[in-house]
Amino acid sequence: MILCKTPEEVSLQVRKWKLEGKKVGFVPTMGFLHEGHATLFDKSLSKADKTIVSIFVNPAQFNDPEDYAKYPINTAGDLKLCESKKVDLVFLPDQETMYPGGIPDVLLAIPHLMKNLCAVSRPGHFEGVLLVISRLFHFVEPDFAFFGKKDYQQYLLIREFCKTLAFPTEVIGCETIRSDKGLALSSRNARLSESEKEESLLVSRALRLGESQIRSGITDPVLIRDIMKDVLDSSSKIKLDYLEILNADTLESLEFLKGNLLLAVAVFIGPVRLIDNITLSVSE
Ligand code: PAF
Repeated sequence: MILCKTPEEVSLQVRKWKLEGKKVGFVPTMGFLHEGHATLFDKSLSKADKTIVSIFVNPAQFNDPEDYAKYPINTAGDLKLCESKKVDLVFLPDQETMYPGGIPDVLLAIPHLMKNLCAVSRPGHFEGVLLVISRLFHFVEPDFAFFGKKDYQQYLLIREFCKTLAFPTEVIGCETIRSDKGLALSSRNARLSESEKEESLLVSRALRLGESQIRSGITDPVLIRDIMKDVLDSSSKIKLDYLEILNADTLESLEFLKGNLLLAVAVFIGPVRLIDNITLSVSE
């Protein structure tokens, strides 16, 4: 496995691979890798000839400095996992390499996909994500890039960003990986106590209940939201950030639940913010 710390090293290697006609897959991460990331690596390894993983905790996307300071880091473990998965190259830049002279004063946004969900509850977050993705994609020039759909709004935004700005990269969304009990895998889960982990199962339970109620024929979003909210309100440890049912393609709100739907939840459990979602299609 090749380890690169600068964009120049990555570019040089990628150019060599491209001259040999190899297709490059890319999985950008913030490290503290888990089974969800490993699944993204597998997707890339099976679709592309070469797989690159980046590990960089991007300060530009944290609206809360404490959240950034507490973001878990395990570089040695991450490199071991990448090695065992047969990732071809890991890009491990430091902050000065990613943002020489500091975070640049530029604002990237796609307003029509940033009117709700995490864009509102974490102001500045997606601007920071688009900034780092843009820089990483210029360094790596991937043919394919893989993102988990747990961060559904992020996935839609990056897909739209690449399309609009003509990045020659196919953005591929991958299904959320869950624990046996249903908790969506996330690096942030490491900060939950055992009892908080137990409470957090209510999030996927609320989503599944919402889904089954919609599938049973209920089309009123207010009713479904109330049913789901009752599940989350049953725990005093859960503080709701948002609970929304939207058109999964446009992120617009709906009067009736028809078409491609996104059920999305964000909660605080203790100091940890967790997000999860389900998509489903209901025939018009
Ligand atoms: O989803 C993440 O881990 C991050 O937002 C990403 C895409 C690696 C950008 O820093």
